[in-house]
Amino acid sequence: MFPENFLWGGAVAANQCEGAFLEDGKGLSIQDVLPAGAMGDRTDRPTDDNLKLVGIDFYHRYKEDIRLFAEMGFKVFRTSIAWSRIFPRGDEEQPNESGLRFYDDIFDECRKYGMEPLVTISHYETPLYLAETYNGWTSRDLIGFYEHYARTIFERYGDKVKYWLTFNEINSVLHSPFMSAGINTPMGQLTEQDLFQAAHHELVASALVTKLAHEIMPDAKIGCMILSMPTYPLTPSPDDVIAVMETEHKNYFFADIHVRGIYPGYMKRYFKERNIQIQFAEGDVDILKNTVDFVSFSYYMSSCASAGKVHQKGSGNLLEGIPNPLLPTSEWGWQIDPKGLRYTLNMFYDRYQKPLFIVENGLGAIDRPATDGNGGMRIEDDYRIDYLREHLLQVGEAIEDGVEVMGYTTWGCIDLVSASTAQMSKRYGFIYVDRNDDGTGTLERYKKKSFYWYKDVISTNGESLIGAI
Ligand code: BG6
Repeated sequence: MFPENFLWGGAVAANQCEGAFLEDGKGLSIQDVLPAGAMGDRTDRPTDDNLKLVGIDFYHRYKEDIRLFAEMGFKVFRTSIAWSRIFPRGDEEQPNESGLRFYDDIFDECRKYGMEPLVTISHYETPLYLAETYNGWTSRDLIGFYEHYARTIFERYGDKVKYWLTFNEINSVLHSPFMSAGINTPMGQLTEQDLFQAAHHELVASALVTKLAHEIMPDAKIGCMILSMPTYPLTPSPDDVIAVMETEHKNYFFADIHVRGIYPGYMKRYFKERNIQIQFAEGDVDILKNTVDFVSFSYYMSSCASAGKVHQKGSGNLLEGIPNPLLPTSEWGWQIDPKGLRYTLNMFYDRYQKPLFIVENGLGAIDRPATDGNGGMRIEDDYRIDYLREHLLQVGEAIEDGVEVMGYTTWGCIDLVSASTAQMSKRYGFIYVDRNDDGTGTLERYKKKSFYWYKDVISTNGESLIGAI
């Protein structure tokens, strides 16, 4: 079912696991002032209640963690580079050598085990200085700073990293502008004009560094990363189907530009009807023609859309939709829909015929560890195994449908701090980290039941999934 060279692995982001928020010359990032996550308000300066300042201390424990990933048989490990470790303010000429050395060590450690690093250049961690001084991606200046940062890391790591992603969940700029794009102006005061102009800057930057990556690292593969949440019509009414189409256009828009290199007609209409005028600088049209090698996406849930008045809104990560009355939900209200993953893979592939990479999928759940009698902890996370198995079976179905899938990295392969709520108790990992929402805990690591399950899945290249049904 799964191809021979399928890239099995797991994913994290620097800001959710590294901690060491001021160590070795790192500057502040927007995450250091978001103690309550994407859903909460920002603070002026870092506060002790912000769990990300310590994270899971990956900065000091990465060797142990990467060894555990290797033990599971990971072929790929997705992480991000914290921009503010390399350029503490974001607009400097000279990079911070200690920051660069840290990622040398991470990638060397991965390579030691034959694991490909998959690197997100910007994962919700814009340097705070760029947010406060330039208002993040509303400013065109960010394109130059990002390009300089990308060039620096491409030149440094070009022989260690083959797979790159430009912006994590780039479409989230429309929904969570501070976290996604370092836009300091509160959401309520931003117009659609502001948001789409910021999106344009990111899209141009993404295309620019795609070009750069191809020039500096001819063997590298560079992809876009989309927050995918397939939308179903709430009823069979044609109006609901049109509502679905319009909802999906706002997400496809980002992938369409990355793959096709031009603004789609449906967006031109949307802009015209709302009097939105995107400022293109000279050369932007040509820059956008530098298209990606593959399309990657996160997938957690689906939702519904309706043309009529609906009062109930579901809770999503950063997107919100109407809950599907036929689907169960996680403890955080995210709807569980494994078949939506097969559907998403088919939709992307039908549209683009580009290789696809599922770079996030998983279940945020409360684990209840029991002592194992030897001073350790035992975590029987059958719910997580069920979730992942059901989703992977649907990936297998999509592969049977003819979809080209490069790989699959589960989100939060080791427990880490949640992006939307900044909780530690919303756990995704195969590896339990002893750290609690109140900041207590030893930070020790323990293998969960799912650790052994995933190891089996990888070693049988997915065959064990079928045996289990
Ligand atoms: C994705 C983000 O949206 O969802 C991750 O790329 C995030 O950074 C993940 O952690 C899961 O969301 P949450 O809010 O449960 O951490």
